[in-house]
Amino acid sequence: MTEVVQTPSQLGTQFVPRVFSGIQPTGGLTLGNYLGAIKRFVDMQSSGVETFYCMVDLHAITMPQNPDDLRRATRELAAGYLAAGLDPAQSALFNQSQVPEHAQLAWIFNCVARMGWLNRMTQFKDKAGKNREAASVGLFAYPTLMAADILVYHATHVPVGEDQKQHIELTRDIATKFNHDYGVDFFPIPEPVIEGAATRVMSLRDGTKKMSKSDPSDASRINMTDDTDTIAKKIRKAKTDPDALPSEADGLADRPEARNLINIYAGLADKSVDEVIAEVGGMEFSAFKPQLAELAVSKLSPIATEMARLMEDTAEIDKILRAGAEKARAVTAPILAQTYDIVGMVS
Ligand code: TYM
Repeated sequence: MTEVVQTPSQLGTQFVPRVFSGIQPTGGLTLGNYLGAIKRFVDMQSSGVETFYCMVDLHAITMPQNPDDLRRATRELAAGYLAAGLDPAQSALFNQSQVPEHAQLAWIFNCVARMGWLNRMTQFKDKAGKNREAASVGLFAYPTLMAADILVYHATHVPVGEDQKQHIELTRDIATKFNHDYGVDFFPIPEPVIEGAATRVMSLRDGTKKMSKSDPSDASRINMTDDTDTIAKKIRKAKTDPDALPSEADGLADRPEARNLINIYAGLADKSVDEVIAEVGGMEFSAFKPQLAELAVSKLSPIATEMARLMEDTAEIDKILRAGAEKARAVTAPILAQTYDIVGMVS
């Protein structure tokens, strides 16, 4: 059981290093989620700091969701976390809606963040599309809930892929404005941790587009539940250019598809791009792709197999999520209580 957190007032301006991150349980997990997020969650789990990893189901409903699909996706995401190596004894693993302080703090942040700040968010523009008037209020306010997710733990480090950078910057702005408006040093200013070779995994069909679970083409992505043959086939068919791989990393600059496959290789192999280029530079794609497929299958298939096994016992998954939520609430409840006190709520 996590000990109740020391509060910043006890610590002066020193915040205990603490990691928080989350993934939306919508659709399935992709290789982008794995390399950009989950794999790095696992690395940080053993770094000696407290780690909180969430399935952000309240974020998921900012877009329409079928309730049964949402329940299934939440459990499948939990299975993905566990299968990839997150250990409930080391990390708190839970779904957001079981920790009500996230939504409670989000309301306060709705009153701190400015309309103009949220109007600039590219994810809202992308997801709302042309018909903004028809988007849910939740989709617009999404970033204040995300700020609450992070700050209700006083989290200092947030491992994410590159596409989440703007949201973390907004979180920092909200923390700064709250502290300033109330004359306190209560919320830490969290750091995004965007590291490694695969912080932006691109579509296998178009190296200029992000790999995404919402892309209509299944061939554009590798799903964490894909079987061996499907993974190999998708890599074999991945778009490339006609040239051989360059012998220097600089040679990837104007070759988005080649760069993407090299980044994926580096991410899976835990190597730098330079190390990978030293190994495979000069190779034709016809030789490189089978090597990449073999690596991908060796890393991803065991995860898919374990996810399928875990999904056979969803009661066990639910139990892990309940325990994770309890561990989380030991931290979030006192932080929310202090926030209410700072803001002037009578208790
Ligand atoms: P989401 O669910 O879209 O993605 C989850 C994580 O996966 C990363 N990711 C990628 N990384 C590299 N290449 C890709 N193609 C790729 N696609 C996705 C994302 O950057 C992210 O780290 N708003 C967040 C969820 C969230 C959250 C939070 C994250 C809610 N609250 C608090 C951190 C902290 C989102 O929609 O991620």
